[in-house]
Amino acid sequence: MQIFLDTAEIEDIRSRLDAGLVDGVTTNPSLIAKAGAGIFERVAEICDAVDGPVSAEVVATEVGGMVEEGKRLAAIAPNVVVKLPLTAQGLIACRTFAEAGIQTNVTLCFSVNQALLAAKAGASYVSPFVGRVEDAGGDGIGLLADIRQVYDNFGYETEILAASLRGPAHVEAAASVGCDAATIPPKVFDQMVAHPLTDKGLATFLKDWESTGRTGLD
Ligand code: E4P
Repeated sequence: MQIFLDTAEIEDIRSRLDAGLVDGVTTNPSLIAKAGAGIFERVAEICDAVDGPVSAEVVATEVGGMVEEGKRLAAIAPNVVVKLPLTAQGLIACRTFAEAGIQTNVTLCFSVNQALLAAKAGASYVSPFVGRVEDAGGDGIGLLADIRQVYDNFGYETEILAASLRGPAHVEAAASVGCDAATIPPKVFDQMVAHPLTDKGLATFLKDWESTGRTGLD
């Protein structure tokens, strides 16, 4: 499963690249606003740092504006993925970009029907919002599983990018139901590696080794 960082904070991205585990980045207008950055400059910086897909979202709501903004975003770097809202206008823009060979991420997906339409519109990625579904009392992981089933039924190639993931358990569940990618806040990325038994076991190994009086492996 691909792992994307869900942030527009450039240092949060750069500081997590060393192990080669970050496959891409997703941003949205809220994240860019929070970072206090200009969208074109910040997306360019992220694309310089990361080879994989970098989702950058339009803010226009009419198809003409979405296509114009999306083209400007796509011109920043070859790895930009134009992020479009899952609206009727967004799906028309998605079709336009699919026909032009420009990658898209159709976002704000909350139902199987929406995901089905995104796939039919030629989306490269669809982003179901697990955390926000759960906030509203729904079954976010069930939604991912249902979309996986429908896409497999018909052989749709749109990749399922689990989004709005709030903790490591969400990442595990997204992987278990066969999502192609998960986008996660940097904090959740850090939490994925941590396990108390790993820390406890390592402390015991080191203490036992120290008791031999040796330093290092010699
Ligand atoms: C990413 O593509 C989404 O915009 C993001 O995951 C939304 O997360 P949130 O629901 O925690 O804001």
